Amino acid sequence: MTRFVDRFGREHRDLRVSLIDKCNLRCTYCMPSEHMTWLPSDTLLTADEIVRVVRIATDHGITDVRLTGGEPLVRGDVVDIVHRIATLPTRPAVAMTTNGVRLAGMVEALRAAGLQRLNISLDTLDARRFLTLTRRNELHAVLDGIDAAIAAGIRPIKLNAVLVRGVNDDEAPTLLHWAVERGLELRFIEEMPLSVGGQWSPDALVTSDEVVASLRGFDLQPVDDDPHSPARRMRIGGTDATVGFISSISRPFCGGCDRLRLTADGQFRNCLFGRDEYDLRGPMRAGADDDALLERMIASVQAKRAGHGTDDLSLVEPTRGMHAIGG
Ligand code: 5AD
Ligand code: SF4
Repeated sequence: MTRFVDRFGREHRDLRVSLIDKCNLRCTYCMPSEHMTWLPSDTLLTADEIVRVVRIATDHGITDVRLTGGEPLVRGDVVDIVHRIATLPTRPAVAMTTNGVRLAGMVEALRAAGLQRLNISLDTLDARRFLTLTRRNELHAVLDGIDAAIAAGIRPIKLNAVLVRGVNDDEAPTLLHWAVERGLELRFIEEMPLSVGGQWSPDALVTSDEVVASLRGFDLQPVDDDPHSPARRMRIGGTDATVGFISSISRPFCGGCDRLRLTADGQFRNCLFGRDEYDLRGPMRAGADDDALLERMIASVQAKRAGHGTDDLSLVEPTRGMHAIGG
């Protein structure tokens, strides 16, 4: 079996699949407030096309599939897609990254369809700050969604928090207390320059080191990490709970990257950053066979660079925002 091993020996096991670029929030670090141009609906992959790409990928070493967006739960056939991926002969582990707004009403069906793990975005517990960060008044819905996911028995559930200077940069201890009480792993993600035309600046970045410093009350102890995990984890003194730090900017983790991506419009990507896309939609719709699609995926893996260079602050923002690439 051909596996997705790149020129640097990295074997790829994780595929992030963006189901849709649309979202029911407008996080400032991800999207402008208005005038979003969405992908034309006829360019979105159908469920059949998504499942086909995932099937080929899992036949070649992908073991973990994470569904993302935009917001994956705004796609009407998401439960069906989860079910069809989870029941592929290779039985990949199916995870999802969601903003949680629609989760409360859907998590039971998602679990029954085979969803195993969840990452839910939660940047603040304050409704006004939530409105500032996401431009929508949905904090209550997200908190209900988290409760429903816990009640449905999904494990693990991780919370993703992005701290933004002057908005929620003082909230790390409050968020961590809240997460630990509920048995959830909180991960702090450094803001990346991913919002097209956004406000990102290295001077405003809230670094992981700064967040660690603000958590000195928790007696954090380093944990030996899975080398492929982007999160550096720390154990909270006197408990089994851990907290993660995803330091994409201050400490890029490209060396252990085992991730590949499929955009909602069928472009295969080897990195969140960079501009290389390998179109699978066109060939699929022109009748390409599985081998031809596999060849394109392998070409993408072979073209993967050693690093994305976010430590180089001259980094050019990607041409598409996070919502169109998939988190
Ligand atoms: N920088 C860091 N994280 C981001 N996310 C979205 N945009 C950015 C960005 N510019 C996060 C969201 C969510 C996940 C999909 O990615 O907060 O948790
Ligand atoms: Fe939506 Fe996620 Fe972007 Fe926020 S970060 S606007 S929840 S896609």
